[in-house]
Amino acid sequence: MPHNSARSADTETMVTDAETAVASEALPNPSWIRRAWDVVDERMGISALAYPVPEHANRFAWTLGGITAISFVLLIVTGIILAQFYAPIPEVANQSIRSIEQDVWAGSLMRGIHFWASQAMYVAAVLHMVRVFLTGSYKKPREGNWLVGVAMLGLVTFAVFTGTVLKWDQEGFEALGHNIEIGNLLGGLGYWFSPGFSGELPILLRLYGAHVVIIPGIILVLVILHFLLVKRHKMSPHPLLPGGTSSDQAVEEEPTQPFTSHIRRLVAFGIALTGILGMLAVFFPAVLGPTPVAGIEVTLPPWMFWWTFTLENWFGLSAIVWGELAFFFLLALLPFVDRNPNRWWRRRPIVMIAALLLVLVLITLTILLVVIPAQTHL
Ligand code: HEM
Repeated sequence: MPHNSARSADTETMVTDAETAVASEALPNPSWIRRAWDVVDERMGISALAYPVPEHANRFAWTLGGITAISFVLLIVTGIILAQFYAPIPEVANQSIRSIEQDVWAGSLMRGIHFWASQAMYVAAVLHMVRVFLTGSYKKPREGNWLVGVAMLGLVTFAVFTGTVLKWDQEGFEALGHNIEIGNLLGGLGYWFSPGFSGELPILLRLYGAHVVIIPGIILVLVILHFLLVKRHKMSPHPLLPGGTSSDQAVEEEPTQPFTSHIRRLVAFGIALTGILGMLAVFFPAVLGPTPVAGIEVTLPPWMFWWTFTLENWFGLSAIVWGELAFFFLLALLPFVDRNPNRWWRRRPIVMIAALLLVLVLITLTILLVVIPAQTHL
């Protein structure tokens, strides 16, 4: 037996050598490429990325955070291109977007991808949060990273809102109207949102600054922190693997793969996502209405705000603030009130029922907006 295994090891070595020889022939100058790689790697530490991650991290549901990050990258790239042509000045803002669509090469495509990537980032972030929720991955020691995630979701929502205002069409103008009124309601706390905050600058210019620098800048810092914490705590064990059910137990040995193969998968997803968003941009271009008319209220906000709009119809403008605050407060509270050590969703009936009720309320409020006649609020 030992003799056989020695022979098979020899055979394996020969096969590997033969494969290397074939690969060497296929490459123009393998030693040169190898040396160049070694020089770069020694200085940049790229091969350190090949640390092992559990196999389940490559499942689609566990890749949603990465897809959210890819959407963010697409938003930054297309956003930088759009920023070269957009004018954040009320008199010309709407017209400058029209020129991007008509006069700038691939401008309409860039704008469309930017719009659809914002939808993708929002949807992917929510689905990612749902995965983290269902697998109980917010439990000890990951409570802090859950809070970082909640903050990022809030910032993504704010980015969608400020982006809507930038269009400076009727929808954007009415969104700004809500922005100002909510700022007034918040008194001193909302002063930044009032046009009087800096008399010389139009509020559109400040919201533009928030949209292109402040919000993405904070998201970027939080994404880095989020990733460092994932690295520090390691990916949470799959709750169905032996030992993975409870938040305290260590999972039994699960096969691993190098993180670099996870990155390769993400790059493939990124290419596919860019293609899909590009097609959406061509077949369903981002909408741009004519310049706004003051004093009328005829548009709906982006769909993720519809549930707050129904609340506003019932209880007035302040209900938007209370609704959003309650939503994010409940999310932030979750890891601290859910003391059940089980991580698999079937073993956490109370928190599951509470979450289902919340989702039901959000869906009902969203549908009611379409059914109940809209009121004027401004
Ligand atoms: C908005 C941008 C976000 C990005 C770019 C992002 C990215 C990621 C990535 C790449 C991971 C590694 C695992 C995976 O991909 O599933 C991860 C894990 C995690 N994320 Fe996020 N995330 C975001 C939002 C959120 C939100 C909204 C929450 C919750 C409110 C959240 C909570 C967590 C937690 C607790 C983990 C650790 C999960 C585990 O170890 O299984 N993240 N995030």
